[in-house]
Amino acid sequence: MELSGLVEVEDLHKALGGQPVLRGISLVVAPGEAVAVLGPSGCGKTVFLRHLVGLLVPDRGEVRLDGEAIHRLSPQRLREVRAQVGVVFQGAALLDSLTVGENVAFPLRRHRRLPESRIQEIVAEKLNLVGMEGTEHKMPAELSGGMRKRVGIARALALDPKVVLYDEPTAGLDPVTARAVDRVMMEVRAKTQATTILVTHDLLTAFAVADRVAVMEAGRFVVVGSREEVRASPHPLVQAFLRSSGLLGVPQEAGSEA
Ligand SMILES: Nc1ncnc2c1ncn2[C@@H]1O[C@H](COP(=O)(O)OP(=O)(O)OP(=O)(O)O)[C@@H](O)[C@H]1O
Ligand SMILES: [Mg+2]
Repeated sequence: MELSGLVEVEDLHKALGGQPVLRGISLVVAPGEAVAVLGPSGCGKTVFLRHLVGLLVPDRGEVRLDGEAIHRLSPQRLREVRAQVGVVFQGAALLDSLTVGENVAFPLRRHRRLPESRIQEIVAEKLNLVGMEGTEHKMPAELSGGMRKRVGIARALALDPKVVLYDEPTAGLDPVTARAVDRVMMEVRAKTQATTILVTHDLLTAFAVADRVAVMEAGRFVVVGSREEVRASPHPLVQAFLRSSGLLGVPQEAGSEA
């Protein structure tokens, strides 16, 4: 059965290594909506994302896709559901011994029985979507960081997912390349209408791609709202993010005034 793309997270708690990591996270993402979770390194973003695909089981609370709690699905249904959720892992995670084309074809070979010509067609279409057309025969080692991210995105789109998850899509990229990857995510979203959830510590990415931003601090959301609402928030973490992204005036030097 096809997912609609509705994602509901309710009161998610998770401890790892004896330490609380997620401390009561709730979020509803409507079909087709794009939400960014913005937070500093180590605040729990990847742990949160892993719950959305059932790679981690919550200690308390649940994640529902189309109303079904993901950690209660049968193995068979979990497999079906996961095939409809595309994940772009932190660092792109390409298979280095496979060509670009085979990396993108990987989920198709795993989940679908399709003639080879159709597989090649889909691979070409997805590479085109991320601006990497004609690179099927390249090896991942020949690609720049930005190109690797694009291929990782193309692979996540191979099965036409209803939900696309991005983990730090612009980490490790120079600012110009990072903005280009932002544009790829925006285009992908416009073309696929998939629900988009991205976790990042790059405020510019969050603001470029998402309709709503949830700011995470130590396993909790401290501010959730539209770009404008987040921008207007006096929360110190939000202010720090805005300042370091150049979206706030440089603070007055200490002692220069009042
Ligand atoms: N398997 C694990 N066992 C123990 N602790 C873990 C495990 N996975 C994550 N943690 C801890 O949970 C916290 C959150 O980790 P997480 O990877 O979600 O951070 P993050 O927000 O994604 O950071 P980054 O921006 O650096 O990717 C960290 O303190 C981390 O050490
Ligand atoms: Mg992470």
